[in-house]
Amino acid sequence: MGSLLYVSCIISLLLQAGLASKTRNFKWEVGYMYASPDCEEKILLGINGQFPGPTIRAKAGDTIHVELKNALHTEGVVIHWHGIRQYGTPWADGTASISQCAINPEETYVYRFQVDKAGTYFYHGHYGMQRAAGLYGSLIVEVADGEEEPFHYDGEFNLLLSDWYHQSIYDQMVGLSSKPFRWIGEPQSLLINGRGQYNCSLAAHLMEGSSTCKLTSKDCAPVVLRVLPGKTYRLRVTSTTSLSSLNLAIGNHKMMVVEADGNYVEPFIVDDMDIYSGESYSVLINTDQNPSSNYWLSVGVRGRKPNTQPALAIINYQPNSPSKLPESSPPVTPEWNDYNHSKSFSRKILARQGTPKPPLYAEQKIALLNTQNKINGYIKWSINNVSLALPPTPYLGSMRYHLKNAFDPSKPPDNFPSDYDVMKPPKNPNSTQSSNAYVIQFNSTVDVILQNANALADNVSEIHPWHLHGHDFWVLGYGDERFEEKDASQFNLKNPPLRNTVVIFPYGWTAIRFAADNPGVWAFHCHIEPHLHMGMGVIFAEGVDHVRRIPKDAITCGMTAKKLMNNGLP
Ligand code: C2O
Ligand code: CU
Repeated sequence: MGSLLYVSCIISLLLQAGLASKTRNFKWEVGYMYASPDCEEKILLGINGQFPGPTIRAKAGDTIHVELKNALHTEGVVIHWHGIRQYGTPWADGTASISQCAINPEETYVYRFQVDKAGTYFYHGHYGMQRAAGLYGSLIVEVADGEEEPFHYDGEFNLLLSDWYHQSIYDQMVGLSSKPFRWIGEPQSLLINGRGQYNCSLAAHLMEGSSTCKLTSKDCAPVVLRVLPGKTYRLRVTSTTSLSSLNLAIGNHKMMVVEADGNYVEPFIVDDMDIYSGESYSVLINTDQNPSSNYWLSVGVRGRKPNTQPALAIINYQPNSPSKLPESSPPVTPEWNDYNHSKSFSRKILARQGTPKPPLYAEQKIALLNTQNKINGYIKWSINNVSLALPPTPYLGSMRYHLKNAFDPSKPPDNFPSDYDVMKPPKNPNSTQSSNAYVIQFNSTVDVILQNANALADNVSEIHPWHLHGHDFWVLGYGDERFEEKDASQFNLKNPPLRNTVVIFPYGWTAIRFAADNPGVWAFHCHIEPHLHMGMGVIFAEGVDHVRRIPKDAITCGMTAKKLMNNGLP
C-alpha cells in the first residue's frame, strides 16, 4: 500500500511538471515601419507592426517557439535571445555568421529553445546594426509554478531602455566604415519602452523651455507607472542602447537592487543606478513618499559628454492624475565622468547567498587587450590586435563539419605584450582583420582578463560593456591600469556575481571566470553597436563535436551550403 502511494505520488509529480512547463508559440514578422518614438517620424524595424517588439513572458522551464518571418525586402535578419544560454540548442542563439545564416527575405526560421532560469532578459537583432534600427523587445522569465522569488513585491513594471538616432543605420554604418571616419555622434534621444522626448529640456529646467516638450502627445509622452501608496514594486530594467551608458534615478525614492542579468544579487540600496548596454536589473521601490504628489523617474547618459536629454517616466501615485506634473524636478544624473561613482556601484554587486560559486582554479587564462587601431587608414577596434570580421559560413556549421578554410583558428594569448603601455595611444596603430575564433577545451574553467587601453587619441579611453553568449560568468574583480599577476590574489572567489555582461572602465581591467560547458560557438563582444561593427569582439568555441544535428536551414549558406549540395553532410 505504502509503495503504491509512493508510485502514485511520483506519477502526479511528473504530471505536474509536465503540465506546468509550457511551449509558448509566437508567429512574428520583421519589417520596416513608420514610427515616431520621440515624436519625429522615422522608419524603424518592428515586429508584427509593433515597436518595441512584443514582450515575451514565460515561466522557467518553458519552451519558446518563435516562427520568425523576414518581411524585409532586401536584407537578411536574425534575432538573438540575450541572456538565454541555449543549452543544447546553439543554433537558436540568433547570431548571423556565428550560430546561423541570416534569414533570407520572405523566409521563415524557427527559434525553439528552453528558458531554464527566471530573470529579466531581452531579445534583439544581431545582424549588421539592426539592433540600433529598433529591432528589440523584452523577454521576461518568471519563476516556475510552485517556486517563489526570494523577495516580496506587490506589482511590477518593465522598463526597456534604448537610445535612438534620427540618422538611419545605413548612414551610420557607411560613416563608421569610411575614410575619413565619420563618427555618428550622440543619439538624439533616450527611449523608455520605445518612447522618448527629443529636445525636451524639461529635465534640466522644469517648466522653462517646455515649449519643445510634447508631454501629452501619445508618441512621446513620458511612460506612466501607476502605483498605490504603501506598496512595493519591482522594476525590471534592461538596456539595449546602441551607444549610451545610462543612469536611472527616481525622485525621492531609493531603490533596492535584487537581480542582475537573470541572477539574484545580495540586496543593496542606492539612490541611482548605472546600467550599461546588454545589462538587466531588477530593483524594488517602496511607494512610501507623500502620496499627493507624482514623481519623476529619469534616465541620463554616463561616460560620454551628454548631448542627449534624459528620458522621463512618471511614478503616478493613485488616485492623482497622471498628467499632474511632479512637484520637484527630475533627479539629476551624476556627472558623466564621475567614474568613481560608477565603480562603487559595480563593486556593490555581489552574489546572493545560494548562487553557485566559481571553481577555485581555472585551467586556462585568456588575455584580451582592447585597442583602437587603423587598418589601411580605416578606424577599427581590435582585440589582441585583431579586428573581428565575420565569415560568410556560420562557425557553428563549419566547425561541426570540419570544413577547411572557413575561418581562421588561433590560440588565445594568456598574457599581454609586456611592452604595451595601456595608458598611451598604440605605438604602432596598425592592426589586421580576421574571422579569428578561439577554441576552448570543453568542460574546462576559463579566466578572461579584459584589459582596456588608451584609444587612438591622447587621453581617451572608453567604457566597453562586454557580453558573453551561451554562458553566465563570475565577475572576479576590477582594477585600474594594467592587470598584473599579483592582482589575481585579490579575486573575489567568495561571492562573485554571476552575469552575462560586464563593463571595463576607462584604463582599467575586469576579470571573469566561466565554465566552458555549453557545446557551441559563442560571441563575446562589446555591446556598443558601433564598436561591434568596427570589430570589437571575439568568438569562443567549445565542445562543438557534441552539438546534435544542426537544423539544415541554420547553415545553408557559404561553404556548408556547397557541401550540402555536393554530397550532403553526415
Ligand atoms: Cu545582446 Cu551579442 O548581444
Ligand atoms: Cu566598446
